[in-house]
Amino acid sequence: MPVMPASSRSGGVRPARRGASVLAALALTALTSAALVPATASAAEPYVVGGEETSVADHSYAVYLVDDDGRQFCGGTLTSSREVVTAAHCADALPADELGVVAGRQDTRTDRGIEAGVRDVWVAPSYQDPMSGGDIAVLSLDRAVPYRTAQVADDSDAAKYRAGTEATVLGWGRTAESGERSNTLRSAEVPVVAADTCSEAYDEYDPETMVCAGYPEGGTDACQGDSGGPLMVGDTLIGVVSWGDGCARPGKPGVYTRVSTFEPQLGGQSVDT
Ligand code: ARG
Repeated sequence: MPVMPASSRSGGVRPARRGASVLAALALTALTSAALVPATASAAEPYVVGGEETSVADHSYAVYLVDDDGRQFCGGTLTSSREVVTAAHCADALPADELGVVAGRQDTRTDRGIEAGVRDVWVAPSYQDPMSGGDIAVLSLDRAVPYRTAQVADDSDAAKYRAGTEATVLGWGRTAESGERSNTLRSAEVPVVAADTCSEAYDEYDPETMVCAGYPEGGTDACQGDSGGPLMVGDTLIGVVSWGDGCARPGKPGVYTRVSTFEPQLGGQSVDT
């Protein structure tokens, strides 16, 4: 997949100071970054970015998406034995018959755990591109996966979105902005960021459909390859890794799809046969 062309969302209505760098960051999505030869990996940011290795056995709802060649390119969250919530921009990257889901595999270099095929893909109807919101999709798997699933945040979970709530992001993505993918599952704690603060960071931020998380000083974040993966509060999926300006930059929190907004649409997307 080619780098998402910046022209595809230029539109000309945006002031110049917006967009450019965020677009550059967004351009490095999914398969694109899988194919990229990592540039100089910064030794200063050793993890997810700023996190630590974590056990997939303890977070078995955390899964990853692979292409035809078995290459990891996004994350996902098991929300039932046959359903994975991911980002629309991940689900869109390939035809369903070329998508695979790997569950229960700590290290991408091994063949442990389970690989499932994707029978059906539902993408939020409002989705156009990550920065316009609706970056969420549900993959229906071709087999049941016997792992612990995550709860999907709904209206009753408003408290989990309060600024300062400690959330956990998980993934196999880059461990620094221009670093390499992790071979192993990593996690990091990131506080939920107030809507006002996130609006200041990004003109594109929409409090209805997105939630931001990160520290004002940066240093800890999701990064390329983590897209589609979970932002958890306890056992509840509150966000889906979607976009950001670079990774772990000061004043530039990670932006996640606000799961509770889409929860009413997520159920009943697949027939469990
Ligand atoms: N779009 C990226 C992906 O496809 C995820 C970017 C998340 N960025 C961030 N700074 N939190 O993997």
